[in-house]
Amino acid sequence: MTYTVKAEGICKSFSGHPVLDQVDLAVETGSVLALLGPNGAGKTTMVRILATLMRPDAGTATIAGHDLRTDPVGVKQSISLTGQFAAVDEKLTGRENLEMMAQLLRLSRMAARARASELLAEFDLADAAGRRAAKYSGGMRRRLDLAISMIARPPLVFLDEPTTGLDPRSREQTWSTVRRLAEDGVTVLLTTQYLEEADQLADTVAVLDHGRVVARGTPDELKARLGAEVVRLQFADPAAYQRALRGLDPVRADGRLRTIDVATEGTAGEIFHILGRLQEAGAPAHKVSTYRPSLDDVFLSVTGAAQDGSAAQGGPAAQDGSAAQGDPATQAGSDARPGSAAQHEVKEMAR
Ligand SMILES: Nc1ncnc2c1ncn2[C@@H]1O[C@H](COP(=O)(O)OP(=O)(O)OP(=O)(O)O)[C@@H](O)[C@H]1O
Ligand SMILES: [Mg+2]
Repeated sequence: MTYTVKAEGICKSFSGHPVLDQVDLAVETGSVLALLGPNGAGKTTMVRILATLMRPDAGTATIAGHDLRTDPVGVKQSISLTGQFAAVDEKLTGRENLEMMAQLLRLSRMAARARASELLAEFDLADAAGRRAAKYSGGMRRRLDLAISMIARPPLVFLDEPTTGLDPRSREQTWSTVRRLAEDGVTVLLTTQYLEEADQLADTVAVLDHGRVVARGTPDELKARLGAEVVRLQFADPAAYQRALRGLDPVRADGRLRTIDVATEGTAGEIFHILGRLQEAGAPAHKVSTYRPSLDDVFLSVTGAAQDGSAAQGGPAAQDGSAAQGDPATQAGSDARPGSAAQHEVKEMAR
């Protein structure tokens, strides 16, 4: 197996506050790795370090065969980075943007023109080539930005939140662009807040929390950690909900909707057992449904607990059984208390 990114023991502190603490990250050549994590987890810091824009306090990394410390120029020549601050010049047309950047990269006028045409076609911008970038939609601008970053055909692309702020259609278009890059053998390291995005694009996911990698694996491996089915229990009144909460180890819980989601293997016996125990404890479930775990559930279970010793609390609990989307950072709540004595008690109870 060859790795385009291999970073070990990366540490970074700001004013004595550790932001990255011994982070190891490996991205296989030609694969897509999604770096997930709540706001402030250190994703952008990690990307900036790997892209030579910031020096780590400790740790080593090899990027496309170049040592980050001893050959930052080699690293720089092997990568492109698109982040929040796009390289797009709004006064120029899409084609002019590409040709100008190509010439800055020392392509001849003719070569620049040819490369611009290629990229305009590749990124679905041929029809808009003559329009000023100021008139582009958010999605088109993002694609133009990506196209600019691909002028030099780098083997590694960093995408820091490539679809934040895009509407669903533009997001889909950006996803297919990223997929196409990956199909062409480009290695991609992206950060995202959208778990669905990681699920759609990533071969491997690494979840950062408090500057440490708290989970890694393929999306399917991570989901398998939570068992086969998540059982959603709904309670008729707040008292029953609170009593049940004390005993269960939820993936998420929503006090407003009085729902508690618990990871299970999905066997009838296991569910029957949980329901029986709840009944005995005077906290009978009113309604029960099940759904397959999503990456959101994994994210909430691995980052929620690490954040404040509480399990994740639900966002909008979807009644169709799909997991809640949205800003994961806001979903880490404090309703549930895994690890507490009471919790242990009902875990026993649920057994
Ligand atoms: N140049 C800097 N100086 C001081 N603190 C910084 C600097 N850059 C980042 N930080 C801090 O480091 C922490 C991690 O920031 P970072 O931008 O890497 O997080 P992130 O995971 O990308 O978050 P988000 O999801 O909001 O983009 C934050 O607490 C941030 O305030
Ligand atoms: Mg960031």
